[in-house]
Amino acid sequence: MSPYYKIFTAKAPVNIAVIKYWGKADEALKIPINDSISGTLSIDEMCATTSIAISDNFNSDELWLNGSKQSMSNGSNAKLLLEEIRMLSKLDSELLSYKVHIVSYNNFPTAAGLASSAAGYACLAFVLGRAYGISDPTELSKLARRGSGSACRSLFGGFVQWHQGRDHESSKASQVVDDLHWPAMRVIICVINDAQKDVSSSEGMLRSVQTSQLLKYRSSTVVPERISKIKSAILDKDFERFASITMQDSNQFHAICLDTFPPLFYLNDTSRQVVRICSIINAHYGCNKVAYTFDAGPNACIYLLDDFVDQFISLMKSYFLVTDYQGNTQPIPVKGRSYSEIERPELETVHCKLDSEGIEPMRNAINYLIHTTIGGGPKLIDEHIDDRNLTRP
Ligand code: DP6
Repeated sequence: MSPYYKIFTAKAPVNIAVIKYWGKADEALKIPINDSISGTLSIDEMCATTSIAISDNFNSDELWLNGSKQSMSNGSNAKLLLEEIRMLSKLDSELLSYKVHIVSYNNFPTAAGLASSAAGYACLAFVLGRAYGISDPTELSKLARRGSGSACRSLFGGFVQWHQGRDHESSKASQVVDDLHWPAMRVIICVINDAQKDVSSSEGMLRSVQTSQLLKYRSSTVVPERISKIKSAILDKDFERFASITMQDSNQFHAICLDTFPPLFYLNDTSRQVVRICSIINAHYGCNKVAYTFDAGPNACIYLLDDFVDQFISLMKSYFLVTDYQGNTQPIPVKGRSYSEIERPELETVHCKLDSEGIEPMRNAINYLIHTTIGGGPKLIDEHIDDRNLTRP
């Protein structure tokens, strides 16, 4: 038989939940205790990129994440996902016996509560699916879920619902609306801390399930109602309702973190300052201009409409400063999509309001902002990651 070697590469998006997943009914299968809903972010600004090579010459399945080798031992999440795909694949058994080398990169901080595992496992499921002949996104969402629960939502663009389900077959994601439905929607990520978080989401949510009374009430009573309300706000493109539910759900998730024993602290002083600033802005304008939400880390994700992006970024740049390597103080940098700076006189009334509420500039608290939008699902690309671990030995 002639030597066998194939390589595939894909990019997959990050998703930011507006109704949070927190708690599993089944740890092994990653079946959640409630439905959740998220927005998928554009891969133009943030994504995972994964190349996989399959060769008859590789001795074992191997995985490198952001340049460092990861465990592919039996029982690891990536191995589980790979085994599941091989089991479902209709390729011939000779091909299925060949080992795979996986190289994956995120272009944003890993494990800082920025949904990096979601993009990573969605990318892995998608690209392995292509290699092993499985392309149905619903099927792939179930496979991605085996890697990391929230990853199942990154298989679709737009706004996406993860249906709790009861077992592997029924716990899967589906699209609520595609990425073209609400073109005015924007997202600004405030990258507050690049450091690794203390307690992982998996560990944290297990502790909450075991100890938080509030979590039972949330999953049985609060979430079902919020899911239907936020879906209708999304369908109606009603930012006022969308924003209220998003902020309340984030607040409740972090209240559950405090109700967990011992408690989980994911927010820090900077996160709370961002909450204060958003609340003052919304009160000043008499309607919701911005909606904050936080995952299991201090970084703030702000959902807002395009007509308030310039104002919000300009305000954030006056309250968050960084010191450069020469010791000069600058406003925080902004990455991603373009925006136009608005001078202080045009924002004077809201500045006065923020100042009168005691908001003072913070230095080196936010590293930078990422301005992005809602985007589509994963896609295959022709340009493979240049890495010697992907070449045929
Ligand atoms: C706070 O999907 O990372 O971001 O299933 O254990 O891998 P595992 O957890 P993970 O949890 C994400 C939790 C969250 C909320 C959300 O994305 O819905």
